[in-house]
Amino acid sequence: MMKELRIGLIGAGNIARTHLNSYKKIPGAKVVAICDINEEILNSTGNAYGIEKRFTSVEDMLKSTTLDAADVCVWNCNHAKCAIAALDAGLNTLCEKPMAMNAEEAEAMEAAAIRNNKLLMLGFVTRFSNEARIAKEFIADGKLGEIYYSKAIYLRRNGCPGGWFSDKSKSGGGPIIDIGVHPLDLTRYLMGNPEPVSVSAVSFDKLHEERAQLKTIAGWMPKGADARYDKNDVEDSAVAIIRYANGAATLLETSYALNCIPKTERELYGTKGGISFGDNGLKIFTEVNGFMANVDLQDLNFYREKADLFDCEMNHFVDCCLNGTKCDSPAHDGVVIMKILDALYESAKTGKEVTIK
Ligand SMILES: NC(=O)c1ccc[n+]([C@@H]2O[C@H](COP(=O)([O-])OP(=O)(O)OC[C@H]3O[C@@H](n4cnc5c(N)ncnc54)[C@H](O)[C@@H]3O)[C@@H](O)[C@H]2O)c1
Repeated sequence: MMKELRIGLIGAGNIARTHLNSYKKIPGAKVVAICDINEEILNSTGNAYGIEKRFTSVEDMLKSTTLDAADVCVWNCNHAKCAIAALDAGLNTLCEKPMAMNAEEAEAMEAAAIRNNKLLMLGFVTRFSNEARIAKEFIADGKLGEIYYSKAIYLRRNGCPGGWFSDKSKSGGGPIIDIGVHPLDLTRYLMGNPEPVSVSAVSFDKLHEERAQLKTIAGWMPKGADARYDKNDVEDSAVAIIRYANGAATLLETSYALNCIPKTERELYGTKGGISFGDNGLKIFTEVNGFMANVDLQDLNFYREKADLFDCEMNHFVDCCLNGTKCDSPAHDGVVIMKILDALYESAKTGKEVTIK
């Protein structure tokens, strides 16, 4: 008989729908209940995906439904509360990025997973891209040698989502914690998860007043999303250097609003070669017959089944839960990233290099 995973979805907004689309494709995955504090969103997602069991509180859902796993898709400020409740109810849990509002919350979440002997997986979705997996293979094969420097770039020109994303009490911050977290995590992951020792960051809040006047501000947000711009107390761009214990370093650049060409780029530089992937495919900086050469990998999807990032992430979560597969995006990685994020905000606030303990 095919194994089945009964999942309770916590939060029924935009990303929850993306997760639901993925679960629909996975044999054995069954979202049996959802909860959201907003009844309208709860019912609209419940109706769209035919989910009968609906709750306006996570506690009620956990009390009155038989579940094997939970998936946390709520505002950042409620990740810790919801994930800990699910873990304490004995459920393997997937939690969206960023892990929490700060490292203290993240550590409490990791502790809940350990005391309940349950999986807490982080939704670091970019780890599951074709490019990331190919880069990982090149690195494992020694093609880059020792990686000692990386660039983690995620620049939007006019892309503040508004709504709760702009409200620090709900989001924890702007592009650093929201989108910078993706390339920051991915570069660290591909560098072999080195221990961070210190950071130096500068953040800016220069453009949001002007941007608020522009209609395009949330033009790319999903229809119906809360894109109000009445509160904005988060940074709109930032740059930082992260130093690791092994001597390696990462340059992070991220923005919601910056007068620039929007860019998504991850670059890793090693003693034998380099690799770059993002907006323009995947390139290897190497040597051919003693000549410096840049190799553009062609038609990646010809060699790999074109994989949707979220499909791969949900597939991995379900596989970990049903088959005990080792998790490739574990809670501890999220804790370390939260420590880096805390230090980035502290450094930007104080104008000083901040040590990470
Ligand atoms: N991996 C990615 O690329 C990616 C993309 C977008 C969002 N996210 C993350 O997903 C999370 C949700 O983002 P979103 O865009 O779906 O936001 P959203 O506002 O569309 O949805 C969040 C929902 O959570 C609900 N909610 C808040 N607190 C709750 C609680 N305690 N219990 C139940 N429901 C609660 C809200 O009412 C809302 O409907 C965030 O952490 C965000 O960072 C990740």
